[in-house]
Amino acid sequence: MTNRFIRFLVGFIVLCVLGAAGAAAAENVVLSTGFEDGTTQGWGPRGTETVAAVKGIAHSGSYSLAVTKRTLTWNGAIHELPGPLSAGAVYHVSLWAMCNNGPAKPRVTLSAEKSYQDTSAAHVYSNVKTFTLTQGEWSLLEADYTVPGDKGLARVDIYLETPYKADAQVTDEDRYDIYMDDVTITRLGAEQMISIQTGIPGLRDVLAPWFTIGAAVPPAFVDRTDVHSSLLIKHFSTLVAGNAMKPDALQPKEGEFNWKDADAIVSFAGLTGMTVRGHTLLWHNQIPDWFFTDPKDPSKPATRELLLQRMKTHIQTVVEHFAGDVASWDVVNEVLSDRSGLRSLSEGSKWLSIIGPDYIEKAFLYAREADPDAQLVINDYNLESDPRKLAEMYTLVKGLKARKIPVDAVGFQMHISMYAPSVQEIKTAIEKIASLGVKVVITEMDVSIYRDDSQQAVPMTPELLKAQGARYKELFDLFKAEAKKGIIDTVVMWGCADDDTWLDNFPVMGRPNAPLFFDRRLQAKPAYWAVVDPSKM
Ligand code: XIL
Repeated sequence: MTNRFIRFLVGFIVLCVLGAAGAAAAENVVLSTGFEDGTTQGWGPRGTETVAAVKGIAHSGSYSLAVTKRTLTWNGAIHELPGPLSAGAVYHVSLWAMCNNGPAKPRVTLSAEKSYQDTSAAHVYSNVKTFTLTQGEWSLLEADYTVPGDKGLARVDIYLETPYKADAQVTDEDRYDIYMDDVTITRLGAEQMISIQTGIPGLRDVLAPWFTIGAAVPPAFVDRTDVHSSLLIKHFSTLVAGNAMKPDALQPKEGEFNWKDADAIVSFAGLTGMTVRGHTLLWHNQIPDWFFTDPKDPSKPATRELLLQRMKTHIQTVVEHFAGDVASWDVVNEVLSDRSGLRSLSEGSKWLSIIGPDYIEKAFLYAREADPDAQLVINDYNLESDPRKLAEMYTLVKGLKARKIPVDAVGFQMHISMYAPSVQEIKTAIEKIASLGVKVVITEMDVSIYRDDSQQAVPMTPELLKAQGARYKELFDLFKAEAKKGIIDTVVMWGCADDDTWLDNFPVMGRPNAPLFFDRRLQAKPAYWAVVDPSKM
């Protein structure tokens, strides 16, 4: 062969490979539109709402897709997911959304509807991910959907709706319009699909000599076709519902309990040998307004007697429902003020103003009556960073104990950062509370990569993640020492991996964070190795 021919051959092969790679990448995009031709591009309504391409409101170009005249929460634009629907195939959905009416922080949920070859079989709906927007602003929504292995699955449709409310409970506030633009759906190639690392030690096994390690989860993660379920089984021994056991999820309307999502988490935990913590019986957030209003005149507050009775019914119905399955309850959450004393109306809580300070002890007494065996916890944040708040918690729990109120433990949420507070401050806080003769539970841990709210998004460099690992190491060394003293037996992370953390949207909307042990592709981070084997960090 001449040199010239060899060069030609090599060039030809390189071109073929590049061409094939390019073609494969292009084929991966299965749907992409900015609605610029003024049509809906195959998107349609789910109910009686109007779905149309509109000019003048757009994220880019001049058109977007408008969903208006929604009457029920499940109304929204829907599109068939392009096949073939091979089980395990992962679709990445990326779109911009905007709501220009309704609440200040409208929420939209990307959901999937499955239908079956057996056309008489009921369709099955699942929520893929819920996003909180800011009214009037376009936000990028991104989520992965894995095609499940359901027998006889014929088709999957994806759609954008708003968080579920029973039809009769829907008000005009819930009927906000949804605009969508620049939608791209990509079918990930096998090499891009997420799978967990199987050859590494399970966190739960490594930490078992000291404490149980838990994670807060949405119900979607306990679906066996979702790869997160494998991560949970391998690494965690306790689960908490991130939202599904809060009052608004369990009792959206007085007397109508909705157990589905919470039950799914509890039954997954039972089948996979995990325990469950319940979060939370009473809070000032994520609780429906009906609790606090007079049923005859909604402009008036409920009376003390009525609110106490509603609180008792809620606590006892919920605790009895999960008795035997939920071993520990956050009975009250965030009852302390960030300024002084108990949280009041000015900080969003109606419990104190309507009932008075004894609402806390009543909540514990009701919970104890409903389950004599569950651990009952008072849960709060910043106890480790705010000495004033810590002192108030100390006094509060001391008083409750003196009056024989069944408080078994104080929950330290432990939403902290890489930079503060110091291990010494955390140790002092934990031991001060433990001196009251109660346990300490770490209930919602995450370690933000940001110093404060004002810091701009930073790149997640290997150095940054290593520094986070070093921080995790010192924190877990402290927890192990406290475990040896019998003070801590449970540490719960507020999420199982960085692809699902509330810190992406709090305290700064849309600023990506990376506060947990596993990254957005569920791979072990330095933080994981810091706890499992620091020599591999
Ligand atoms: C957060 C959830 O993670 C979010 O999904 C939800 O939108 C808001 O609440 N302290 C608590 C938790 O006690 O219930 C909060 O969870 C995080 C702060």
